[in-house]
Amino acid sequence: MELEQTLIKKIKTAGQEHLLRYWSILTEQEQQEFASQLEAVNFDILPELINQYVLNRPQTAIPADLGPAPFFPLNPRSEEEKKRYEQAEKEGKELLKSGRVCCLTVAGGQGTRLGFDGPKGSYPIGPVSGRPLFAYFAQNILRAGEKYGKPITWYIMTSKLNNQDTVDFFRKNNFFGLQENQVFFFVQGTMPAIGYDGKLLMANTHSLSLSPDGHGGTLLALRKSGALDRMKKEGTDIISYFQVDNPLVHVVDPLFIGMHIQENAQMSAVMLSKTGPFEKLGNFCVSGGRLQIIEYSDLPEELAEKRNADGTLAFVAGSPAIHLIQRDFVEELTSSGNLRLPWHRADKKIPFIDENGSAISPSEPNGVKLESFIFDALPLASRTMVMEFDRAEVFAPTKNPTGVDSAESCRRMLVDRDLKRLASVGVRIPCKADGTPDVTVEISPRLVLDAEDAAQLATSRLIDFENGMKVVIE
Ligand code: UD1
Repeated sequence: MELEQTLIKKIKTAGQEHLLRYWSILTEQEQQEFASQLEAVNFDILPELINQYVLNRPQTAIPADLGPAPFFPLNPRSEEEKKRYEQAEKEGKELLKSGRVCCLTVAGGQGTRLGFDGPKGSYPIGPVSGRPLFAYFAQNILRAGEKYGKPITWYIMTSKLNNQDTVDFFRKNNFFGLQENQVFFFVQGTMPAIGYDGKLLMANTHSLSLSPDGHGGTLLALRKSGALDRMKKEGTDIISYFQVDNPLVHVVDPLFIGMHIQENAQMSAVMLSKTGPFEKLGNFCVSGGRLQIIEYSDLPEELAEKRNADGTLAFVAGSPAIHLIQRDFVEELTSSGNLRLPWHRADKKIPFIDENGSAISPSEPNGVKLESFIFDALPLASRTMVMEFDRAEVFAPTKNPTGVDSAESCRRMLVDRDLKRLASVGVRIPCKADGTPDVTVEISPRLVLDAEDAAQLATSRLIDFENGMKVVIE
């Protein structure tokens, strides 16, 4: 086959004609595959991108007026605020009953740190049952749909690398009780890896070296996949967004939803008080009146350590990556067909083929992968809202096998949350001599969505624990 002349011209103009080096020796099928990859690259903007992010090293600009972001606190500060929260929660429940909320999980990452082979969502996290991460979300979504009388559609973003495995995993598990058509998988975009000389790297003679374009790619992928159209058709305009690594998340939270709508926000965020100045969380900041998140790796040390007069951290607000996003905001951000978010550079060792066609596995970083981050949409929103939540209630990230933010700490937090829920409705929790609980409990997320459900469970069933028990309450 022949490549389109206009495409060849674009490739040459962008200084990337080395990509065509092997074209004449490729099979028809290889040519077809390669052509579709090349067609997907936006060669028009490539030179500028390479100049800005590869040939030059962009510094995250820290504006002079950068300050901590304001937020609605966990505990209302006045009687008036308390009433406001109550009203917001009621409104949130109404919105759920009217079916205006859908869920969105980003699950395109490779989960390298966890050292788990397979989509991260299939990781067995249940403290007793080993139920996978995906089951926590699916069964809570099922319960929420039942509770509010409207099934919730769940959008899951995968990447080319894990889409098939993810879909197969859902099939094998009968979609964890959800209707198959309630789950909408969509694949995020890719970005070509770029060598330090500004040339796109080739994985082999007929393929670019491609990698997922970051969770900022969610926005464009929602449009391209038809997800936005489906939301519109179903009358959902509020997207409840969370990451695949956090099974403690409230898949939908009426208070958060109600406040988001009351504040007329285009995008909202949950915030947690950081455990220390360098906790690995994005930091909520404001500059020029605009909310933004600065990654832990980018916040200068003196700002991270800055303290208020009372000794508390000035930049105390960390992001667990839980958001509410208005559908029309996504429509607005992607209307040009391109992504309107900045890119972030990561220097990597990227295997490639050289000009002789030999495969090279570099031992030092040899190029750049570009990713966009969804939270970079916050400063583009006309209105935003940040609300504090209790970490023990909403955030148990599974990033590493052991230690901080690990599968281990996540399981412990899941058990603690369930024990707390049961204790608060009068269930006796057996303890060890040192006063810590002597029982490992896992309440099915199909059964209990929130504190209200836990109370109902305790009144409808006799729950009697013995010391040392490991139990799943299904
Ligand atoms: C992320 C946030 C950080 C936040 C923390 C909370 C970034 C850059 N930082 O950190 O601000 O405080 O979570 O846990 O995200 N993903 C995709 N496609 C991609 C890349 C990632 O879907 O191309 C998904 C992953 O599957 C995962 C999520 O995005 O669900 C976060 O990715 P991860 O690399 O784990 O981010 P962190 O650096 O841990």
